[in-house]
Amino acid sequence: MRIGVDHYPEQWDRSLWEKDAELMAKTGVRVVRIGEFAWSKLEPRDGEFDFEWLDEVIAIFERFSIGVVMCAPTNCPPLWFYKAHPEAVQVGPDGVRIQTGIRGHRCINSPIFLAYAKRITEQLIRRYAGRKIIIAWQLDNELEAYPCTCEVCKDKFRSWLSDRYDNIEAVNKAFGNSVWSLGYSDFCEVEPPTAYPKAWQNPALCMDWYRFINDCLYSYIKELSIVIRKEDPKVPLTTNTWLCENAPDFYKLFDNLDFVSYDNYPALTIPKDPEEFYSHAFHLDLMRGVKEQSFWVMEQLSGATGSWTPMSPTPRPGMIMGYGLQAIAHGADTVVHFRWRTAVSGAEMHWHGLIDHSNVPGRRFFEFSELCKTVSKLKVLENTQMISEIAILYSPENDQAFKIQPQTEGFYYLEQLKYFHAAFTRYGANIDVVSPESDLSRYKLVVAPTMYIGDKKASENIYRYVIQGGTLVLTNRSGVKDENNNCVMDTLPASYKELIGAEISEYDPIGAQEQTIRDFAGNEFVCRQWCDILQPTTARAYAEYNDNFYRCCPAVTMNRYCGGVAYYVGTVCKSDFYESFASNLMKQTGIPRLKGLPRGVEVTTRTNGLDDFIFFFNNSDAHVTIPLPKPMYSIIDSVGKDKLELGPFEVDIVRK
Ligand code: GLA
Ligand code: ZN
Repeated sequence: MRIGVDHYPEQWDRSLWEKDAELMAKTGVRVVRIGEFAWSKLEPRDGEFDFEWLDEVIAIFERFSIGVVMCAPTNCPPLWFYKAHPEAVQVGPDGVRIQTGIRGHRCINSPIFLAYAKRITEQLIRRYAGRKIIIAWQLDNELEAYPCTCEVCKDKFRSWLSDRYDNIEAVNKAFGNSVWSLGYSDFCEVEPPTAYPKAWQNPALCMDWYRFINDCLYSYIKELSIVIRKEDPKVPLTTNTWLCENAPDFYKLFDNLDFVSYDNYPALTIPKDPEEFYSHAFHLDLMRGVKEQSFWVMEQLSGATGSWTPMSPTPRPGMIMGYGLQAIAHGADTVVHFRWRTAVSGAEMHWHGLIDHSNVPGRRFFEFSELCKTVSKLKVLENTQMISEIAILYSPENDQAFKIQPQTEGFYYLEQLKYFHAAFTRYGANIDVVSPESDLSRYKLVVAPTMYIGDKKASENIYRYVIQGGTLVLTNRSGVKDENNNCVMDTLPASYKELIGAEISEYDPIGAQEQTIRDFAGNEFVCRQWCDILQPTTARAYAEYNDNFYRCCPAVTMNRYCGGVAYYVGTVCKSDFYESFASNLMKQTGIPRLKGLPRGVEVTTRTNGLDDFIFFFNNSDAHVTIPLPKPMYSIIDSVGKDKLELGPFEVDIVRK
């Protein structure tokens, strides 16, 4: 377990370099990420390289035994490059070339850009290959599935389509181009989706465009990784990612990399509704699930955020420590804080680091220093992992499909996953968030929210899981589309009908309007957004609607299928329903529940096979007391405890 910082020595006077490293070492910083945007300092003129300053920086960190994450600075080509090769600048969906002077505006498909990106990466790796102090490499920065519509990208998309489909007629068929006279007579007529609202575009075209962009990101990462691995085959490679509007297909993005890195900026405004807090935990679980292994946080919240948005509140006392440990509680092994010191120039000068502009260490820095000390006591957690009995399936294509075609007011894909995640979190369970194609046989309970886009492998995997005795929860908007993002001509949930033992005779997208359902035990819950009116064939009702013309029709069903059980939730409820449902599901599948946890407290377990280490994180601004079933040893305070007293955002870790 290590704590680190992101640092940009090229942005500071040389006189600070050594002092910074010295203070880092004294504070307990064990990792520093450098070089991320430093291309123009490393190659001030075309083909003229200057590595001396970087040699010095690396030598300083080497002296202080601080491991270095070296970045391939390909996010930011120097301006001389753009001047000489203006065709390598991205073109937006509006067809207009982006103006330079910000960052990240290179087209990753541009052959000339790629040649320069590979050259700077090759120069760097040749110079530093085999240096023990370099513990990992980061490629580029926050690659998004952002569409470039330059001529190179358009041509590449056309040949991507011609590889995927035999001929243009097959494309027309796949896209359903008989609508609105959109039929192509030749591949050269294909244009990417434009800047018009997505609602006006062909959803099948949009989905293939998204797939194409992900394939481009994949090959870009692959090209850069080949350059590095050729010189230094063993050094671990990553890229840093985040959950943005243009979220890439994380599974594909990291397929060729050694570990996942996540940029973690939990919201700093404490929501009135405490359930919202759980979303950081969900994001962390999602990141652990991308490669189903421990991950890094490559950028961690350190101060008030803001630059392109108004500034957020500053982290409250406890948050720097709490959120750092929360990441470890969910499977992070290294947490790197963004950034050591707040920039005094450039667009990001109000995105605060650990140390403020004054360079006088203050409250946040001292808390960070405590975090470093605490984490240094966590050696016992080396080689521990998280084992979960519950999985929630996350599919980037389903996520994208709902961005292309929002369903109804309030209905967001990730929220559909978070409702369940938050409910299981109330009972202290470890939760995996994994791909629908993952090995499900290891779980007692699998939730497959809105399996919207046709995916044969995923549905076969889900059927197999239930046939082999698993308990599955499927939800509304499943089986709706084929793999081209077109509607299927079948009664919903189409391919899943047999599994859930019910059919949907009609649906009602009620949006923000609220209605109620009643479960088998007579409990009432609010429902909203969506109502599937279910007709069971072999299923039994778990809950029924109370209102509207479908009063008394099933809203939630349960079906025994081969060796397993398949539930179907045809509506969207609030936390009370999900908590009650989760409790019943866990009871039936024999998953232990921790009852009576104060709201906001998250409990996760890391294990090494012999010992279990249980994290209790109070993700709230209240003081809480948690009774323990038997006295346990706290590895934070090195004492036995029979109850835990946690202040705001405080974490304790006990050995079971
Ligand atoms: C992102 C980027 C960083 C920085 C931070 C905060 O996460 O990766 O380079 O811009 O946002 O501004
Ligand atoms: Zn392009």
